[in-house]
Amino acid sequence: MEDVTDSGLAILPASDRPDVAARLRTALLGASFTADGLLELLGAPAYAALARSETVPALRATRGDTPLETLVRLLLLQQPVPHARVADFLPVDDLLESGWLTRAGGDEVAATVDVRPYGGPDGEDWFIVSDLGCAVGGAGGIGQRHAGVVLGVGGASTTLAGITVRTPVAAALDLGTGSGIQALHAAQHATRVTATDLNPRALHITALTLALSGAPAADLREGSLFEPVKEEETYDLIVSNPPFVISPGARLTYRDGGMSGDDLCRSLVQQAGERLNEGGFAQFLANWQHVAGEDWQDRVRSWVPRGCDAWIVQREMQDVNQYAELWLRDSGDHRGDPVEYQARYDAWLDEFEARKVKGVGFGWITLRKTGAAVPSVTVEEWPHSIEQPLGDTIRAHFDRLDYLRDHDDADLLEGHFKLAVEVVQEQVGLPGAEDPEHVVLRQHRGMRRATKVDTVGAGFAGVCDGTLSAGRILDAIAQLMGEDPVLLRDRTPAQIRLLVEQGFLEPAG
Ligand SMILES: C[S@@+](CC[C@H](N)C(=O)[O-])C[C@H]1O[C@@H](n2cnc3c(N)ncnc32)[C@H](O)[C@@H]1O
Repeated sequence: MEDVTDSGLAILPASDRPDVAARLRTALLGASFTADGLLELLGAPAYAALARSETVPALRATRGDTPLETLVRLLLLQQPVPHARVADFLPVDDLLESGWLTRAGGDEVAATVDVRPYGGPDGEDWFIVSDLGCAVGGAGGIGQRHAGVVLGVGGASTTLAGITVRTPVAAALDLGTGSGIQALHAAQHATRVTATDLNPRALHITALTLALSGAPAADLREGSLFEPVKEEETYDLIVSNPPFVISPGARLTYRDGGMSGDDLCRSLVQQAGERLNEGGFAQFLANWQHVAGEDWQDRVRSWVPRGCDAWIVQREMQDVNQYAELWLRDSGDHRGDPVEYQARYDAWLDEFEARKVKGVGFGWITLRKTGAAVPSVTVEEWPHSIEQPLGDTIRAHFDRLDYLRDHDDADLLEGHFKLAVEVVQEQVGLPGAEDPEHVVLRQHRGMRRATKVDTVGAGFAGVCDGTLSAGRILDAIAQLMGEDPVLLRDRTPAQIRLLVEQGFLEPAG
């Protein structure tokens, strides 16, 4: 039997034994227990199934006795394995003594935590530690329903890691660190990383994740939202994948913020402004309510703190029924007592009805602290596919905002621009027609935006290679089209502004 704490969760390995974590890391790498090694062993379909918490395909692929197969069964599929089998390639006695392994009866040992290989952006071999049972539920939802369970990497975790601006910084804060995945990424480009969580178990697990991944230790602090941050402390980067779920009551700490409605996300965004250094970024995943009679864009816009530019992207919207079902399935309630399921579903809808909530938006919020007198706040819906990692695209968006803020229409006409490398032109119209109905510029990277342009816009974009000023290009187009150059210079800057804002054109030099 595995050792368990009073709360029903397993006792965690000692976090003050970096020596044992280092030995375990060496052993895991030696057995190719890495993201690449797993893909090779399991094959893409079983590997993908594992990412969906489905274990059957991986169990079938690991019936052999190699060290890698044994490690997959022990650490990912959470099966007991014979002590003698792992003693060949793991420092088993150290791992038993420091709590990474426990005796499982007979001559078998079992893992006390889930250890999952995770490939870093530059091919680093990292490991994410989390609680047992939360990544093996498959369609049944998470297999752990203790309030304090600490989850591993999910889709939201990788989304936030991908959109984070990764410039080298002095100080980064990961608020609600969980398994430590965001802190681990931040440790690659921040001199100091502070990781906070309401749940002390998450801080313990973050320490294990960092040690096992060979990353520097973080400053770990327990508390809610910005409470653990001292008044005078500020950061260059703040990231948070918070417990954003809007739910009737705080049941699972990893997802239910315990504040009413979307108040937790609002508080987080509002309070971040004071915690940022000039030029610093704060990036959040969030959920927000769509309330009857209220524009959702105005709602989230009102959250943006003073002194910050913001870019808020709604990626998805669900009606209240879809939303309740999503989170009931997440916690496996659909597999439990049907009467209890109905009661929970009902409670969710009662809560939404009381607040006149019709739907919930899912998205990203990026703030950048500026000294600008007039902040720029963009709120948009973009449900289409994007290319991750998006961090550079997000940073460039804010750089272009600075440029546009500093350049009026006359300056734009003096300016030189380059067409972004990934942009192509598409002509849309009826087959066989002589002229296209409209011309679309499409990005193949980053946000993968598409925008309709007129003949002048298409011609202008096509010539932009940084050589001629915008005004000179427009004069040439006017001559070609027999248009009045003064009128063309007058009406085109608005289109240029939009093309720059959306990243189709980049200021040259
Ligand atoms: C969705 S998980 C994110 C974990 C991890 N950062 C990631 O990206 O996968 C949210 C985390 O926030 C923590 N949390 C919950 N309420 C909190 C609060 N009021 N203040 C700080 N952290 C909180 C949870 O314990 C959990 O670890």
